Amino acid sequence: MKVLFTILLISVNTLLFAQGYSLPTLPYSYTSYEPYVDAQTMEIHHSKHHQAYVTNLNKAIAGTKLEALSMNQLLMDISFRSDAIRNNAGGHYNHSLFWEILVPKEKQTTVIQASFESAINAQYGSMDSLKKALTQAASTRFGSGWAWLIVTSDKKLMVTSTGNQDNPIMDVSKDRGIPILGIDVWEHAYYLKYQNKRGDYLSGIFNLIDWGIVSDKYTKALTDPLLNEIQNNNWMALKDFHKVMAQTFHPCEEGNFVPLRTRSGELLAKAILLSASKPPVIKDKPSVHKALENLEEQCEKIHELVGKNAKDEVLLKEMTKAHELFHQVEELCHD
Ligand SMILES: [Fe+2]
Repeated sequence: MKVLFTILLISVNTLLFAQGYSLPTLPYSYTSYEPYVDAQTMEIHHSKHHQAYVTNLNKAIAGTKLEALSMNQLLMDISFRSDAIRNNAGGHYNHSLFWEILVPKEKQTTVIQASFESAINAQYGSMDSLKKALTQAASTRFGSGWAWLIVTSDKKLMVTSTGNQDNPIMDVSKDRGIPILGIDVWEHAYYLKYQNKRGDYLSGIFNLIDWGIVSDKYTKALTDPLLNEIQNNNWMALKDFHKVMAQTFHPCEEGNFVPLRTRSGELLAKAILLSASKPPVIKDKPSVHKALENLEEQCEKIHELVGKNAKDEVLLKEMTKAHELFHQVEELCHD
């Protein structure tokens, strides 16, 4: 009886508190996107492929602290996450955006705000040229991936592309910003109807893109705090150093000094690169540079101690200092 009660309690808890990502409902029927995308492709793409990203993302974060993060927080620091999270969080975000901007022609709003039109004309000359740039990005993306129109941290439009299920919010992307339009160029998006003719699929898909929705997304992106967060999150040398520091210091705290003894040279190299790197504008100040110099010196000292086969307790003391210095840099960065 007690066991039964426990099982019941767990099930109720799961039902009440299980949060997670879910597959968004498509606003139109699978047949509505024809003739540009056939119903079977839409159905498989949405109900099988996208559903799999959602299921696997929920599996990958279940029972971890990552459940509490927003999708944007998950994506921004993706270099710290597992491949499962990178592929499936990206897959869920990217497809959700794709379904939003695809609208059967007769249902499209197509009202483009003047500010969006001016930005397109100023940067690309015309809407046609922008479409050409997007087509170029989509057709030259090798293998599977996405073509994007994004708003960058300096509030400019940019056409770019990413591989697999990456996207421009992720810290692994070379061009970063808020996506306002994404074109799926995975073969699962077009192969049934177009086979290997990606160019024909691209010509077709432009008939389904609702530029009115893209225009609204542009306006929202301009004031979205995520733009600043992406800019502040753009210091890859800091992230690279942090990764090695975490992978060497935390084992030391648990009595395992092997990672530090084998990677102290790498830790020093990352500290030198960090010290020489250019911080994002808002963090580019003397106090931050000074703290980075101190951190580099501390890592040099640790590397020398490892070379001299110093005792574990000595290494732990010096690594604790390095860790504190690193957090001093981080704290300075946030003031
Ligand atoms: Fe897809």
